[in-house]
Amino acid sequence: MTAITVTEVGPRDGLQNEAVVVPTALKIDFINALLQAGVRHVEVTSFVHPQRIPAMADAEEIYRADDRPDGVSLWALVPNLKGYERARSVDCRWVAVFTAASEAFTRANINMTIDESLERFRGIAARASADGVKLRGYVSTVFSCPYSGPVAPAAVLPVVRALLEMGCFEVSLGDTIGVGTPVQTRRLLDELVPAVGAERLALHFHDTWGMASANVFAALEYGIVHFDSSAGGLGGCPYAPSATGNLASEDLLYLLDNLGYTTGIDLEQVTRAGELIASYLHRALPGRVHQAILARWKRQSQTRR
Ligand code: HMG
Ligand code: MG
Repeated sequence: MTAITVTEVGPRDGLQNEAVVVPTALKIDFINALLQAGVRHVEVTSFVHPQRIPAMADAEEIYRADDRPDGVSLWALVPNLKGYERARSVDCRWVAVFTAASEAFTRANINMTIDESLERFRGIAARASADGVKLRGYVSTVFSCPYSGPVAPAAVLPVVRALLEMGCFEVSLGDTIGVGTPVQTRRLLDELVPAVGAERLALHFHDTWGMASANVFAALEYGIVHFDSSAGGLGGCPYAPSATGNLASEDLLYLLDNLGYTTGIDLEQVTRAGELIASYLHRALPGRVHQAILARWKRQSQTRR
């Protein structure tokens, strides 16, 4: 059975876009519940400008929380050296730098050109290498940009290469606005996998158009073994208007389990973790499997009565 790595991005991608700022203590409970469920890679926050993303203003506090088991990676997004220094001040050892394949999105998101972002990340990569910090890269808008439209695979490859060459152990490919289809996923991986290898790529789907699980299915055929997802399908990017949440972790786990892949993650416990946030937000989370499990729990409790 092939093992698949899942990076749970709910605490960062999931919560960065919520109108309501979730209290730090609840975020920490959410992260701990995900770890209890067997998740080993959690993207817990981002060290970005607090006025740009107020929901992540408590990044340092998240890392100061105790009780983290060994063997887990607690990732944070870092856009520049200032973010890197903030991350290091609280001993964060898992840093993800993020840029995009479209100039318009990169400008809106991090106020840089793609080349400027790569130049800054080279400085971060040098520091990370000296500090023993693990470095991951993101390329957003791999299919389409919310501002400038379709993006060709040929525009994605040089950014991926640059991130790998500077020392990212892998690059996560973001369908930021969740418009990609299996045909586009294949077209992208036809270009990228022969060039850099499937083992150095992760996929980060948003599910706006409901294709995220189908895209995972297509990507598995290329030997991709790392996917990002968020509990209940929370998520979005404030600089990607009209995009909804990430691929729901429960949808991903249900699919992988049924295909015979292992993840080490308990589906029902992830659902419970997501419910911590749903209860606080007073709204249902969109993930289909998440909802199906809630309905099953309800039926079971009615039968018991
Ligand atoms: P800027 O305004 O160009 O920054 O923002 P600057 O370097 O000109 O500095 C301006 C001020 O910001 C200065 O303060 C800096 O100290 C401060 P002042 O001197 O005026 O008092 N500053 C910071 N403060 C705290 N932390 C920092 C930091 N950097 C500068 N790290 C910047 C550039 C990148 C900071 C800004 O644009 C920003 O924070 N952007 C964040 C955008 C973001 O978080 N987007 C969402 C995440 S990406 C995503 O969701 C996509 C993904 O999920 C994949 C996918 O789905 O595709 C990853
Ligand atoms: Mg995202």
